[in-house]
Amino acid sequence: MRTQVVIIGGGPSGLLLGQLLHTQGIDAVVLERKTRDYVLSRIRAGILETGTISLMHQAGVGARLEAEGFVHDGTIISYGDEEFTINFKEHTDTSVVVYGQTEVTRDLYDAREAAGLRTLFNVEQVEIHGADTDKAYVTYNVCGEIHRIDCDFIAGCDGFHGVSRQTIPLSVRREYEKVYPFGWLGILSETPPVNDELIYAASERGFALCSMRNAKLSRYYIQCSLSDKPEDWTDEAFWQELKRRIPAQHAEKLVTGPSIEKSIAPLRSFVTEPMRWGRLFLCGDAAHIVPPTGAKGLNTAASDIHYLFEGLKQHYLENNSAGLETYSEKALARVWKAERFSWWMTNLLHRFPDQTEFDLKMQKADIDFLRSNKSAQSVMAQNYIGLPY
Ligand code: FAD
Ligand code: PHB
Repeated sequence: MRTQVVIIGGGPSGLLLGQLLHTQGIDAVVLERKTRDYVLSRIRAGILETGTISLMHQAGVGARLEAEGFVHDGTIISYGDEEFTINFKEHTDTSVVVYGQTEVTRDLYDAREAAGLRTLFNVEQVEIHGADTDKAYVTYNVCGEIHRIDCDFIAGCDGFHGVSRQTIPLSVRREYEKVYPFGWLGILSETPPVNDELIYAASERGFALCSMRNAKLSRYYIQCSLSDKPEDWTDEAFWQELKRRIPAQHAEKLVTGPSIEKSIAPLRSFVTEPMRWGRLFLCGDAAHIVPPTGAKGLNTAASDIHYLFEGLKQHYLENNSAGLETYSEKALARVWKAERFSWWMTNLLHRFPDQTEFDLKMQKADIDFLRSNKSAQSVMAQNYIGLPY
């Protein structure tokens, strides 16, 4: 088999790239280790920046998002029973949209199938060959048979545990990592959201987040210990703990119900440099991870795809490789700013096991400053709605 671009990974990054390339008549094959249903069952991100939304429109898959997404003009930050709003609209004239990652991937898979584009599921042992030569190809195993695809370029969109990043030799690759001493326990429940806007809650008992998917589906998170398992937490225990961490006026109104999903995600900041090695380009979680505070994971994956798509378009349509040459540099410049914002928000709102009294005072002063200073609010709003591409 031969194609122009092999895309490893059928998550949001890989699917978005595939669809954008299709609009320009550039041929791509997506290799996905799991099934479509498995990918669609992973409950992850919920907030889309306008840049991500524009890309969805550009890829021809913006209609349902436009009709069903919920526009949010601001978010609440709380500390104990006190709260204030960061008004995105006032500071940036822009909003974000609540639309789940599962819906993003569903729209992209539907469009991919409708266009008859090639996606191979259940592929195993994906290996990249000759990425630093003129003869790049990818091999993979399906049902015990090894196959080979020759290609011009490889997009490594295979997430944090994929093969693409590992293919870049250690002599070339540099990794930066910070692991946080806690995780997020998240649940999805068929209950109305406690509030119209998201609530990012700092409390003496740890962080909590009240989010949603739609008017009847809520997503809540609480900071938990790294040793906790989802089965350690009954629904009742989760609701009790959440109520203790959010302001009383919201806790009173919280509608509880059975969880339909419950999982724990560890928190990590991670960046690999460079994001390109010869004909291999890393995108999304394959190259970087942010802690979810700030909702930057999926959105930063989308901005990588923007830079790579523009580079590939220039290469194929204008015979100019400048965009591909500068891909890593451009993508990383934005990635590091998203890393900074997510790290800052995580530090601002979580309890750390080794925090001293002084550290707690600093954290409180940081929140008070944000509460009272319009410039600080503007900086937060600009980062939250997404920095320009
Ligand atoms: P992924 O979504 O990881 O997709 C990679 C795909 O590649 C997967 O489908 C995988 O099966 C496939 N793959 C892996 N290895 C191979 C291989 N060897 N061969 C072929 N295919 C392979 N972000 C937010 O903004 N907000 C959140 O609330 C949030 N919550 C999260 C919770 C969890 C548990 C995790 C893990 C992430 C969360 N994120 C969140 C981050 C966000 O979901 C990711 O940034 C986003 O999924 C990145 O998309 P991606 O396509 O780059 O990677
Ligand atoms: C979510 O709805 O899952 C969500 C929203 C905002 C975040 C993280 C997760 O910062």
